[in-house]
Amino acid sequence: MHLNAFMLYCPGSVTRLSWVYPREKIRHQWWEMSYWEEIASTLERGSFDALFFADNIGGYGQSETSMRSGFHFPLLDPTVLVPRLAAKTDRLGFVVTMSTTFTSPYQLARSMQTLDHVTEGRIGWNIVTSVNPHEGDNVGIPLPAHDERYERAHEFMDAVYALWDSFEADAMVMDHGNGVLIDTDKVHRVDFEGQWHRTAGPMCVMPGPQGRPVLAQAGSSNAGRDFAAKHAEMIFAPAGTDQQRAEMVADLRTRASDNGRDPYDLRIVFTHGPIVAEHAADAEAIQAEVLERPGPANDIAAMVSTVGFDVEELSPDTRISEMLHLVTGMRGPFETAANGDDPTLAEFAKRFRNMAADSRFVGTPTDVADALVALTDATDADGFQFAPTFYAPDYYAMVVDQLVPELQRRGRVRTGYAGDTLRDNLFGASHD
Ligand SMILES: Cc1cc2nc3c(=O)[nH]c(=O)nc-3n(C[C@H](O)[C@H](O)[C@H](O)COP(=O)(O)O)c2cc1C
Repeated sequence: MHLNAFMLYCPGSVTRLSWVYPREKIRHQWWEMSYWEEIASTLERGSFDALFFADNIGGYGQSETSMRSGFHFPLLDPTVLVPRLAAKTDRLGFVVTMSTTFTSPYQLARSMQTLDHVTEGRIGWNIVTSVNPHEGDNVGIPLPAHDERYERAHEFMDAVYALWDSFEADAMVMDHGNGVLIDTDKVHRVDFEGQWHRTAGPMCVMPGPQGRPVLAQAGSSNAGRDFAAKHAEMIFAPAGTDQQRAEMVADLRTRASDNGRDPYDLRIVFTHGPIVAEHAADAEAIQAEVLERPGPANDIAAMVSTVGFDVEELSPDTRISEMLHLVTGMRGPFETAANGDDPTLAEFAKRFRNMAADSRFVGTPTDVADALVALTDATDADGFQFAPTFYAPDYYAMVVDQLVPELQRRGRVRTGYAGDTLRDNLFGASHD
């Protein structure tokens, strides 16, 4: 079983108001480096594969509701934070999010290759096509339609691969006697001319320890799954019933196989926010507190992330089928609800109170380990990414000190790191 942490460089995580906590227990504020350093060091103590930073360009700053309650706002740039955390850790990997819609292949290829050097081979890239029109407003580029975003993204990847391949691994000869640094026969122009992307090359950064970053993705549509099956090594699967998830895992592995890949060269993880305590009642009390947190935005704010506009403009009695045409971002859960019991917005929002909530994963370490093992076995998935439901330094200490040892005792997660790079730790040090 593989374990990741799922965060954003913001006050909370995917759980609304997860920054709310008794003041006297807050040791570091979320903007202080000590907060992040403590989290990274805790995750490394638990031999987590990676700390994954979801991200977008602007948070939900288009919505006063989100802003007021600190839901993904402020949102700082994790690519700038990661080098500092890499310097404070030895083995923990880091996955950062960058958009194929709002960056150029050259800039992306250069930044990621540099991050591979700076992290000494511990970087991954969460490839997103972006879902929020507000990001386009910030960058000054309109958000293209869904499937076109994926077409552009495939072409973007072709350009990025060409750039990464343009600088051969042994091109840097460092011949001090003759003053020759580069064997120019081993650094090539790219002259990539696509429908949407152009780049001349060559890449101006030599390959890092991993050759190229670990590639991660979280698409769930048909186009998204095709993209993941072709390019991704890690997949952040969306929420769903166990059966939907099992079908999705099987489908992704089949599609990977259709692309000539080993279907088990994908590390597919589910997002959850387990809560454990020595006594189940204590864990349930923490969960109740999370779900009942008051706040100016109430439940509706939590939904903003999934739709890309301020839901408070709509009446809470609006049926999901009536608002579906407004959803430009993650349509999946809305389509399922509209085609199912077609709840009102208020009813639907309750299901999003804590996107990571699942009562199976609230209890004693033994109970929760049982449930996590059962879910991975039933779905053929590879593990989890845990999203903090409360003050992240304490949340991860709880997971690492109480839940991880129980999973280790069962031989379901490793007790140390398999290698030096993120790819080694995902696939084994002997993986080529
Ligand atoms: C666990 C998870 C993490 C995600 N992280 C991001 C992110 O950081 N930035 C982003 O723009 N989209 C993120 N997404 C959205 C996906 O990239 C994708 O757009 C979404 O799942 C819809 O898939 P589809 O476009 O194939 O329908 C995430 C989705 C999931 C399930």
